[in-house]
Amino acid sequence: MTRLRLGMAGGGEGAFIGAVHRMAAALDGDWDLVAGAFSTDGGRNTRTGEQLELDAQRVYPSLEALIAHERTLPVDERIEVLAIVTPNHLHAPMAIAALNAGFHVFCEKPMAMSVVEAEAIAAAAKASGRHFALAFTYSGYPMIEEARARIERGDLGAIRLVQVEYLQGWLSQSIDTDGNKQAEWRTDPARAGLGGCLGDIGTHAFQLAEHVSGLSVQSVSADLTTHVKGRRLDDDVSALLRFGGGARGVLKASQVAAGEENGLRLRIHGERGGLDWSQMEPNTLTLRWLDRPAEIVRTGGPGMLDATATLVRTPAGHPEGYIEAFANLYRAFASAIRGDGTDRWFPGVTDGLRTMRFIEAVIANAASDQKWTSVNPGENE
Ligand SMILES: NC(=O)c1ccc[n+]([C@@H]2O[C@H](COP(=O)([O-])OP(=O)(O)OC[C@H]3O[C@@H](n4cnc5c(N)ncnc54)[C@H](O)[C@@H]3O)[C@@H](O)[C@H]2O)c1
Repeated sequence: MTRLRLGMAGGGEGAFIGAVHRMAAALDGDWDLVAGAFSTDGGRNTRTGEQLELDAQRVYPSLEALIAHERTLPVDERIEVLAIVTPNHLHAPMAIAALNAGFHVFCEKPMAMSVVEAEAIAAAAKASGRHFALAFTYSGYPMIEEARARIERGDLGAIRLVQVEYLQGWLSQSIDTDGNKQAEWRTDPARAGLGGCLGDIGTHAFQLAEHVSGLSVQSVSADLTTHVKGRRLDDDVSALLRFGGGARGVLKASQVAAGEENGLRLRIHGERGGLDWSQMEPNTLTLRWLDRPAEIVRTGGPGMLDATATLVRTPAGHPEGYIEAFANLYRAFASAIRGDGTDRWFPGVTDGLRTMRFIEAVIANAASDQKWTSVNPGENE
């Protein structure tokens, strides 16, 4: 099977997630990175292209230059997909430009700066007939699929409780003003958007809660805090969630939980039992039951559902992690573009719009005296 040709916007020397995308895309041999506009800094851009051994003609100073030149190349040479791994304010303009130019897009989260922008991306994807994927990485873990599929087939009974927490500590001090590149734009409303911690990791927690439970949050009651003096966006989020069907949830996301690394944990309980998964021990899913001892399902181990097995690459006991989870999204996206009929799931426009509505609902609620704010369009007017 021929490899899909990938271009990249962002992800230059010193950047975080661009390199992770490149590793994930490389894992299964579905993709070739052939072009990029990696950085607005000319030196970094050139050096990144050299390190990746790209044709210098296809290392562009900007996305505009990339699109203009790639479109002149023969159809079987030009990029087919653009990965967008820049700070948030560029997601919508870049995604819309790429979709309108006929390229599929694999975009970083959060989808955009606002619901309005996210809707514009959704409209561009629809009009162009191109595919749009969103990097909600954690939903690519095998044990997340195991949890989702078990809930869907009714193992836990009707869902009552959803608890999701995402605790990081790396913004506990004012490193945003001390030259930390990743912290600097994440705390700038012009580049991060309306939410700080809320947009950066609250969105991951929200997407995972809805994706795994199979339920939609109807309304939120929230508290947003900025603990670090002088910081311009929230660094700490607490939200109560009311799901359709009556389930109740709690979402806690913080980037000032001093000492925490990447503590994403999801617990869901139904009428008959519950499940428990932690991102830093991603190969274990614990199931607890009302009427029998707890069970542990392990990545690659016995008892996994068929759907989960398709996401596992190594035998049990050979730990899989973040890159493999990310690679599952790239593999699913490749399948969709090729139309190979495997119908693998990947997060996209729907997850993006839901999470943008969540951001806006939390901000509106936290700023008001209203007890509950709807996450659904048109319900608060
Ligand atoms: N899915 C995940 O788990 C995950 C994890 C980390 C970051 N992210 C998301 O990825 C995105 C990038 O985050 P990061 O931590 O890698 O940031 P970063 O600051 O490390 O990297 C951003 C890169 O974009 C480049 N860039 C900026 N403007 C550009 C432009 N106009 N044209 C081309 N390149 C440009 C910068 O030079 C840099 O190389 C953000 O949207 C973030 O929310 C997602």
